[in-house]
Amino acid sequence: MEKKKVYVGMSADIIHPGHLNIIHEASKLGHVTVGVLTDSAIASYKRLPYLNFDQRSLIVLNLKGVDEVIPQTTLDYVPNLELIRPNFVVHGDDWKEGIQQETRQRVIDTISKWGGKVIDVPYTKGISSTLLNTRLKEIGTTPEIRLKRLKRLIAAKSIVRICESHSGLTGLIIENTSVEVNGVKREFDGMWSSSLTDSTSKGKPDIEAVDLTTRLHDLNDALECTTKPVIFDGDTGGKIEHFVFTVRTLERLGISAVIIEDKIGLKKNSLFGTDAVQTQDTIEGFCDKIQAGKRAQITDDFMIIARIESFIAGKGLDDALGRALAYIKAGADGIMIHSKDKSGEDIKNFCLALRKIHKSIPIVVVPTTYNHISEDELASWGVNVVIYANHMLRSAYPAMLNTAKSILANARSYEANDLCMPIKEILELIPGTK
Ligand code: SPV
Ligand code: MG
Repeated sequence: MEKKKVYVGMSADIIHPGHLNIIHEASKLGHVTVGVLTDSAIASYKRLPYLNFDQRSLIVLNLKGVDEVIPQTTLDYVPNLELIRPNFVVHGDDWKEGIQQETRQRVIDTISKWGGKVIDVPYTKGISSTLLNTRLKEIGTTPEIRLKRLKRLIAAKSIVRICESHSGLTGLIIENTSVEVNGVKREFDGMWSSSLTDSTSKGKPDIEAVDLTTRLHDLNDALECTTKPVIFDGDTGGKIEHFVFTVRTLERLGISAVIIEDKIGLKKNSLFGTDAVQTQDTIEGFCDKIQAGKRAQITDDFMIIARIESFIAGKGLDDALGRALAYIKAGADGIMIHSKDKSGEDIKNFCLALRKIHKSIPIVVVPTTYNHISEDELASWGVNVVIYANHMLRSAYPAMLNTAKSILANARSYEANDLCMPIKEILELIPGTK
């Protein structure tokens, strides 16, 4: 008699005895096909898994009781169920509650069409994947794994969410902060090492006055206490002869990408727009820099992203688009388009126009001025990465200033106490303080 068909869907990032139990129960019922969720299926509702899809599939295929592995490309089981038409779908009974109830119901509705049944296996107690995740975070990461992560995120997510970090502490905020929106956990995907906030926090202007060695020395604090990927603000990239060394240094540290802007001469912050004298590089000059950087890089996954300052310099869409096409041809792995216009219209027009020509080149935006545009809307224009470029520092400074003024005005700190976090909390903030 032909064996019954059994389907099990799983992420299989951190395999634990709970998974083995489910597969064991499934294998008693027939031929087991495991649908391993792809990176994008997982990233649609939680953080990117530690292991990539190929690694996870290989592990599952080698588990006792598994006959076959196929990708499950959506959180929704239905496409795979219709493909396989299993007699049974086996899952831990924890999906009877909470947000997974809906998924379960859709499975029941689908497989009952051909007489299939859902088997809910009692959840294996005593294993907390949250705790396992925390432990994994404690182990940390390697430069190689961190470096590769940005490309994986771009491939897996509709939009990658990056926030500025200028210290170990801000790195920890970005690493660990999450909120739940409609039952889905939301967190930042990585860090932006901003020239503006790195310089400002040192009391220096954003004019490439803080040298690379100093910036990397401080970035190391964040690297030591986080695992998420970093995009480095490389300003103009400096002289071509220097930029090639920057690329290698960043790769060695496990930085995922550098963004360089097409300006020459004394760099001023872009948000001054035409109020400051800023000179755009020639297309040829900047293409040479991109090419030299690409030739210098050692890994396949490091990204050199070309930042276009045409809108900042008061030029129009044609100039910006012409530059984008040239920079992509020169080997840029992505395009950052910048503007200080409040409407976001110029950015939208640019993205839509570029997407008509290049379907998948990563587009990065920094919506500091057009901050009313939501991530979903940016994604609908074709944007892949959104950078909140200065918000940790901009929110910290007024808070510190208030406290300083309160202490001065009252000649004591009693009134400022409520502006501050409790001593107990700060002592417990960093693990290992006790
Ligand atoms: C930075 O954060 O340093 C940037 C973005 O380069 S902006 O300040 O908008 O130029
Ligand atoms: Mg900058």
